[in-house]
Amino acid sequence: MSLSVNEHPWGNGIPDINEIEKICWQMLHEGATNRKSAMHQAVIGTSVDSIAYMRTVVLRRVDIETRKIYLHTDKRSKKMKDLEQTKHLSWLVYDQSLRTQIRCSGSIIIHHMDDLCKEQWDHTGHHSRRYYMLDREVEEMDDASTGLNEALTAFDYTLEESEVGFQHFVVVETRIDWMDWYYTHSKGNRRAKFNYQENILTGMSWLMP
Ligand SMILES: Cc1cc2nc3c(=O)[nH]c(=O)nc-3n(C[C@H](O)[C@H](O)[C@H](O)COP(=O)(O)O)c2cc1C
Repeated sequence: MSLSVNEHPWGNGIPDINEIEKICWQMLHEGATNRKSAMHQAVIGTSVDSIAYMRTVVLRRVDIETRKIYLHTDKRSKKMKDLEQTKHLSWLVYDQSLRTQIRCSGSIIIHHMDDLCKEQWDHTGHHSRRYYMLDREVEEMDDASTGLNEALTAFDYTLEESEVGFQHFVVVETRIDWMDWYYTHSKGNRRAKFNYQENILTGMSWLMP
């Protein structure tokens, strides 16, 4: 199944809800594996004390079979404080060329210093490691600094030296328990939802868009 522009002209045809579910997961997988995909960036939301906090992250990995999606972050970040408290994460991706929004949500597992974390860290390039190498003792800064010192700015460190960042590197796994698909079209929008339990699809239905 291709995911190219205007591939699914469902304004004219009747989509099969089972197919929609599969395509959503393919789109998410494409988002994780193709840097050029609009779904390579996702918005994640946490909720603390009745306030929603949202931010962009890179969709790093999608396991279709187990309905798990992953991001990388810094253990010292605000979002980690939220996640340690709520153990739950919501995701949103949107691709204008596919006219598709996917929202999904689930409980999380934080991988820190374990095998999965190490595997992902080993695939994290030299350039991407520098923010994990930072001293982040202070949140607020007096000037408009990037926070990077001269060596980090110039990528003047070896891969071996960058290993110091591993202690701050975290992989967050989300076990999706619901997904909502929204497709826009001039002839009418369409919407469906899917529920999962222990990575098994347990329910699906069309929704009023
Ligand atoms: C295009 C883009 C990609 C980003 N990717 C990530 C990411 O993968 N992980 C991450 O922790 N922050 C990422 N950020 C920064 C977050 O959006 C956020 O501003 C930062 O992590 C602080 O969030 P927090 O204070 O809620 O922890 C990205 C920002 C942009 C604009």
